[in-house]
Amino acid sequence: MLIKKAADIRPSEITSKENYLNRRQFMQAAAMAGGTMVAGEALPAIIPDERRAKLEGVVPSRFSTDETTNSYEDITTYNNYYEFGVRKEDPYRNSQRFEPRPWSIEVSGNAEVTGSFALEDFVKPHTLEERIYRLRCVEAWSMVIPWVGISLADVIKKFKPLASAKYVVFETLLDPDRMPGQRSRSLRWPYVEGLTIAEATNPLPILAVGVYGEVLPNQNGAPLRLIVPWKYGFKSIKGIVRMHFTDQQPRTSWDLAAPHEYGFYANVNPKVAHPRWSQARERRIGAEQGSGLQSLFAAKKQATVLFNGYGEHVAHLYTGLDLKKNY
Ligand code: MTE
Repeated sequence: MLIKKAADIRPSEITSKENYLNRRQFMQAAAMAGGTMVAGEALPAIIPDERRAKLEGVVPSRFSTDETTNSYEDITTYNNYYEFGVRKEDPYRNSQRFEPRPWSIEVSGNAEVTGSFALEDFVKPHTLEERIYRLRCVEAWSMVIPWVGISLADVIKKFKPLASAKYVVFETLLDPDRMPGQRSRSLRWPYVEGLTIAEATNPLPILAVGVYGEVLPNQNGAPLRLIVPWKYGFKSIKGIVRMHFTDQQPRTSWDLAAPHEYGFYANVNPKVAHPRWSQARERRIGAEQGSGLQSLFAAKKQATVLFNGYGEHVAHLYTGLDLKKNY
């Protein structure tokens, strides 16, 4: 486990007694549930520190698609991560010196278990799964990515949300010294996203810690990011430091930036156009020969599918909801 020296700990990271007790409760619950929390067990093995280190104990998921995956190069050089710049190559170029350890996640709001958790403790009770998912960006391109992550539903169960918790809100790290894009006003910082509790406890969403069996690269949202495969990519928030349970639908970063263009639901839907472009078709990055930026221009367009093809798992969440109004 990463043990912080007193000098490394910022005041914001010091947990209150109440949080500390909640954290103990969480660890005990985790130990009882999985039998995996052995005292003194070496934890760094779960998510090694080194870049490109292999993740151990990853099991395949029944939710994976068998479509051809994009190359590691496509996945790690063509990114959206405004904290590191607004062009597709910026995250790869500008995030290499970012140090995503030590890292902790604060869990707050309407839940029985809250507190501040070291990344390793947060991930440890859960099974690392490989989930090969389609990612459809609101900009009408897509990729197929072999993520490694833990089930968000399992994580949420451990924190025991109260009946009053209708939404889960996620926040990215706010640190303009380490995330140079936050010195510009491209978005309001920190990046905020959210899901309804029903969406968050659906079996599909994961909190990803890796890609292609290796530790998550910085440009893809290290050390922990959300993946919600039936929604436009902007819902899949990177560099998460906070999960908050609330009864209020949150204002998300893209909703605040352009409310008429980016809604809270953001379900992939070929019939609901973005005000400035159609969503009926998408470019599959790397679909033709070549990779990275080159392939973008060569890639053929393909039809976009409602809920990005995950309708059998999620369509019931939206029964009776007007998807045109609730975009
Ligand atoms: N998370 C944060 N914190 N900042 C961002 O700018 N961009 C989003 C999402 N998560 C973004 C973010 C968008 S628009 C997309 S399409 C996906 O991340 C891209 O994920 P990828 O670069 O790993 O493919």
